[in-house]
Amino acid sequence: MTGSSAEHDGPAAPRPDVVICPGGPMLVFGDLVVEDADGERHRTHRPVSAICRCGRSAAAPWCDGTHKALPDKLRP
Ligand code: FES
Repeated sequence: MTGSSAEHDGPAAPRPDVVICPGGPMLVFGDLVVEDADGERHRTHRPVSAICRCGRSAAAPWCDGTHKALPDKLRP
């Protein structure tokens, strides 16, 4: 191995559709419909939306930052 990877270098790398934030939310990009655990559908209205993965947000399915107050073992 050379230690270099063209697929991770440079501006040609495409933006992912979903980014998992360690210990925090899942970021999604663009206009999407998110269905929550109760089957209710929520449309995204922002270029980037954060979906709660810790299950403690008061604004579910969206992240409201509550995960930041959780101890590490309770974070996603
Ligand atoms: S991931 Fe942020 S409040 Fe749940």
